[in-house]
Amino acid sequence: MSNFLEIKKKINPFNKILNIEGDKSLSIRWALLASQAEGKSSATNLLMSEDVMNTIKCLKQLGVKIKFYNNKCEIIGNGINGFKYKENIVLNTGNSGTLARLILGLLIHSKKKIKIIGDKSLSKRDFYRVTKPLEKFGAKFQTNKGKLPLIVIGTDKTNRIKYFEKKGSAQCKSSVMFAALNTIGETFIKAKKSRNHTELLFKYLKLPIKVKKNKNFDLISIVGKKKISPLNYKIPSDISSSAFFIILTVLSKNSKLVIKNVNINETRVGILKILKLMNIKIKLKNLKNYKGEKIADLIVKSQKSIKPIDCPINLNSAAIDEFLLIFLIAAKANGVSYFKNLSELNQKESPRLNWGSKILNKMGIKNILKKDSIKIYGNPDLEVNKKVVINNFLKDHRVFMTSTIAALTFGGEWKIHDKDSINTSFPSFLEKIEKIRSG
Ligand code: S3P
Repeated sequence: MSNFLEIKKKINPFNKILNIEGDKSLSIRWALLASQAEGKSSATNLLMSEDVMNTIKCLKQLGVKIKFYNNKCEIIGNGINGFKYKENIVLNTGNSGTLARLILGLLIHSKKKIKIIGDKSLSKRDFYRVTKPLEKFGAKFQTNKGKLPLIVIGTDKTNRIKYFEKKGSAQCKSSVMFAALNTIGETFIKAKKSRNHTELLFKYLKLPIKVKKNKNFDLISIVGKKKISPLNYKIPSDISSSAFFIILTVLSKNSKLVIKNVNINETRVGILKILKLMNIKIKLKNLKNYKGEKIADLIVKSQKSIKPIDCPINLNSAAIDEFLLIFLIAAKANGVSYFKNLSELNQKESPRLNWGSKILNKMGIKNILKKDSIKIYGNPDLEVNKKVVINNFLKDHRVFMTSTIAALTFGGEWKIHDKDSINTSFPSFLEKIEKIRSG
């Protein structure tokens, strides 16, 4: 079967209710934490995507028993540091930066050498950002100039550390938090604001964690070597996956969409705040609190008049996975939008800031790309009346899905390669598009 998607027609107006799959960050964190708990944890609505399945495979290789029943995943944890390490173990983390970086925090306690590999995209990404702080605990790493493949050479006596996380990376923060779980004494982290799912899970599990919130940084302290109780969890829907359908609706004519039970954690809703500043209001209904996370139904409608934005940098981290989509909104705005301090966007599965600019160029939207910023000259009457080919994007799932949304809303004849990239985070993406398209 061909691995590209052709779209030659815009989507017709629609009015639908949608359920989106489980959150990727929470699915991976739940599995890793359940592996450190004593006994049986279970999860429903676990995201069944390649990133999560690679997490499950790696944990199985480390001696953790995992079973699936219908819609449920059960993990029998062997307690903190309960991994069973075989000789010459190689863990394939696939495309997942979250898995590769977070699991390192759990592996530094092994004295056996462990090799971590990943796919072409992950092998281009920076790992010094996690190996450097983890070395302070006493572990050693052999890397390929800071990239994968890498080898972890752990220690059975880790030292507690003080760590200043300056990038706003939840992966770096969480990796250190996981390392702190098996370290005697109190580990201190000063972290630039980033998604806080790990903190909320630690709190829910009643682990000794303290979080003090300042304006730009959080001060986190964790006391290690405590028993972790099993965690039964219903993974809420992923706002990053929902975002594709939010933008599809906003940019389509006379359409409405309700998305059920979406995780609207404050550290993830940058897209909703940015859209609000651009005159696009998403209504929230049925707000609930679930084990520390907030959940709501989102009600989205088409929007004709979109305001340009000088995007406040304090919203960057909470919208980090949604910028490609936000750039599509800026393309339709009534003026020039400006997004800055976005160097982290070029550290993702592909250089996404550059890809944002490339997609806009292909659509005929003027934009000025600098090292860490982009100015987008919006055109409210934008119609793409030409052929557009999207390929060689390192199979970045978000580039593929954003291009699909652009094709369905701006028109033109699109050929988008590497359809299978959706399996990383959102395997049912195209089925859901079809469901909406077929009326
Ligand atoms: C993630 C954190 C973010 C995000 C990624 C998932 C996580 O990466 O882009 O998709 O689950 O912790 P960084 O922490 O590198 O910013």
